[in-house]
Amino acid sequence: MAIANVAEPLPLLRVRGVEKRYAAPVLTDLDLDLRGGEIHALMGANGAGKSTLSRIVCGLTTPDRGTMSLGGEPYQPHSRRAAQRAGVQLVMQELNLVPTLSVAENLFLTDLPGRFGFVAVAALLARAVEALTALGLNELDPRTAVSRLGIGQQQLVALAAALAHPCRVLVLDEPTAALTSAEIELAFAHLRRLRAAGTAILYISHRLEEIRQISDRITVLRDGRVVATQPAADAALDEIVRLMVGERAVGALDQRDHSPGDVALRVEGLTRGKRLRNVSFEVRKGEILGLAGLVGSGRTETVRAIFGADRTHAGRVSRGPGPPLTIAGPKDAVRAGIGMIPEDRKEQALLLSQPVRMNMTLAVLPAFVRRRWWIDDARELRAANELRLRLDVRSHSLNQRAGELSGGNQQKVVIARWLLRECDVLLFDEPTRGIDVAAKIAVYRVLNELAARGKALVVVSSELAELMALCDRIAVMSAGRLVTTFARGEWSEDAIVAAAFSEYAGRGDTARRGRVDSC
Ligand SMILES: Nc1ncnc2c1ncn2[C@@H]1O[C@H](COP(=O)(O)OP(=O)(O)OP(=O)(O)O)[C@@H](O)[C@H]1O
Ligand SMILES: [Mg+2]
Repeated sequence: MAIANVAEPLPLLRVRGVEKRYAAPVLTDLDLDLRGGEIHALMGANGAGKSTLSRIVCGLTTPDRGTMSLGGEPYQPHSRRAAQRAGVQLVMQELNLVPTLSVAENLFLTDLPGRFGFVAVAALLARAVEALTALGLNELDPRTAVSRLGIGQQQLVALAAALAHPCRVLVLDEPTAALTSAEIELAFAHLRRLRAAGTAILYISHRLEEIRQISDRITVLRDGRVVATQPAADAALDEIVRLMVGERAVGALDQRDHSPGDVALRVEGLTRGKRLRNVSFEVRKGEILGLAGLVGSGRTETVRAIFGADRTHAGRVSRGPGPPLTIAGPKDAVRAGIGMIPEDRKEQALLLSQPVRMNMTLAVLPAFVRRRWWIDDARELRAANELRLRLDVRSHSLNQRAGELSGGNQQKVVIARWLLRECDVLLFDEPTRGIDVAAKIAVYRVLNELAARGKALVVVSSELAELMALCDRIAVMSAGRLVTTFARGEWSEDAIVAAAFSEYAGRGDTARRGRVDSC
């Protein structure tokens, strides 16, 4: 007679022998158990198969083989709606909100009231306020169009949308990539409440510290196979990293010769309402300048303003001793030798239906044109292939469509595109968001090489450890002002954090505004 093991609660969701292949196998003979009342972290390098598994669980992809059961019953969702009806909710890595609709409409997209009568709209707004308040978004008007929100807020709305419905299993695919620490805390508090109520939560993230903080068990995927499942409390971070990346060396960052040359970019008095207040700084050839600060402190606004992506009210940008540049839009910036990698990957307009190689070389195609319209295939291929290897882009060939790559690998393609382009000044906004630990080191190496070749780099990052490893100087922004700049060797984590908060002192709104990560 079988004896039930009381220490091992029965799984709520059981995945058995799941397989999925596209051109190559993506998931192989995969077993996973999710218990009610647990937060189960799913970790793995970019392209390991995490999002594919979450899409299968949530009815967006059908597996080639394998079975699933939910609460002991066979579970075979053929659509996302079917999964939702069974109580399985998903927050996707690439948010799929409808930008033209309001926050309230996005929250209840799948069950909007049939007729938009006055009562229905009022009821919808009331439900929306309730759902938003639960995540601390008390000040967000549910009538706002989603297109007007920053990426962090969009991420919270997507989370609120999943949580606004009954939920037995919740799958979160990198839900905090764009959130501030205060927002992450609110989201975590909510997840803990759901866990206490018996929900099974599958939590995907590249942030190791965060995983340790929130999860009960960790499953590591490598190349589509489960390599370990263990209690989070026992997990040593370096062991997890080794399991994730296998024999791929994570390596250390090489030291660079920190002796910058002449001024390559001069920014004077950049002003944009209250968001940017009289920001001035210089970056030299061969120098990496970090921009630290809370989310909303003006870091992204600064690089966007330099690149001409947003209008400014005052200020001048020049290339070294040259005259002020007239930058009416990104095209002018690129012509002046300034490139930018924005924080929102979607803004990069990756051509999702086109091959990886074309996405890498598109901006520089003229360089590969031999005669009038004859593209030098071999040269283009060589350049793209070299970058693919350097950044460890996981695609089965350079001809794979960019839309088929995993989220982190798409980000690497975006970086590659700008590396091929010979800009003298490069502005990076959160360059390693969504990128796995090993690939991050590869990106840092490339940034170091660019600086060593005399490029001037500005790097915005929420990870202080990243800035401290990379930069020659770190400028700290607070409430739209550049408050101080530290040289290498002069900074400390405490001093940077204190500077980041300095302009908010006494305003009482700091807690809501963001994070300076200390991981
Ligand atoms: N529709 C598709 N067609 C072809 N290949 C695909 C498709 N969807 C995913 N893949 C491939 O499956 C593999 C796993 O992708 P997946 O998105 O599951 O990775 P991931 O673990 O979520 O990575 P990341 O950390 O970068 O988000 C990748 O190699 C990807 O190219
Ligand atoms: Mg993914």
